Amino acid sequence: MRKRAIKGEYLRHMQIVEHAESLTPLHGCALVATMGALHAGHASLIKQAASDGRPVVVSLFVNPTQFSKGEDFSKYPRTLEADRELCQSAGAAAIFIPSVQDMYPYGVDAANAEAIQLQLPLVATQPKLEDAQRPTHFAGVCQVVAKLFDMCQPAAANFGEKDFQQLRVIQEMVRREGARWKKLVVHACPTIRESDGLAMSSRNRYLQANQRENARGLSRALAAAQECARADMDIAAAESEMLRVLARHQLLVEYAVIRAPDTLLPIENFEPKLKSGARALIAARLDGVRLIDNASCDGAISDRGG
Ligand code: PAF
Repeated sequence: MRKRAIKGEYLRHMQIVEHAESLTPLHGCALVATMGALHAGHASLIKQAASDGRPVVVSLFVNPTQFSKGEDFSKYPRTLEADRELCQSAGAAAIFIPSVQDMYPYGVDAANAEAIQLQLPLVATQPKLEDAQRPTHFAGVCQVVAKLFDMCQPAAANFGEKDFQQLRVIQEMVRREGARWKKLVVHACPTIRESDGLAMSSRNRYLQANQRENARGLSRALAAAQECARADMDIAAAESEMLRVLARHQLLVEYAVIRAPDTLLPIENFEPKLKSGARALIAARLDGVRLIDNASCDGAISDRGG
């Protein structure tokens, strides 16, 4: 196939790439995969990726196959101009903005059908967390992330701990498919929080000003779980405490649990798992807005508030 030239548009030094063929000179990069609507959490991923000295490629692609019907695919925020500026000031070497047609040449229905045939790592199907709430989600995530890895051939890929189950799924996919992406290292990057404790998320922009106080319930419930771990309470009591905090903030809980940090399966007690960071994970809705957050039980989220 004839190689298309890089669509040679340069914004000062940052390159804008639309077609996978043009990524060849960037193979060996550090990849930050995103769906756009970038915020300071993404900037931190880009900066951390750049600190290793590799050129950083940021992919901006709202992936239709990881949304199911009724989810927010069509209204997912698209803020290309602001994203471009953020990537440039955070030190990205290139942004990769593929079209749906390029990613899924046989169409989205065919891609959805292909995604659900994928053999997913157990951490994508067993914990009954995001996998229970969004049954086709990780199939779409694995499909698109594998495609991005194939296209970019990165040496490193940085993912945020904010989507903790997603991070574990991608780590397991890479471990399982070791030979496919040679020497690829997945880096887990800490969640970046607003000063009030709310984990940064592209979906926070759906929140009305008057919902912000209740949204803080997630980080407060995680801080409560950390306190319970320090007090060596049992897991069931710590989970009840999380539920109590969430209820006080009028959050409709999908799950609020403490799990093993590797498998995300239930654990009996904090010892000895506490040493390796038992993980508290929450998904809850505030009116129509779905929020997720998590933290290691041996850490400390600073804002506890009321
Ligand atoms: O976390 C995200 O933004 C997306 O799930 C990802 C990893 C970019 C795949 O579309």
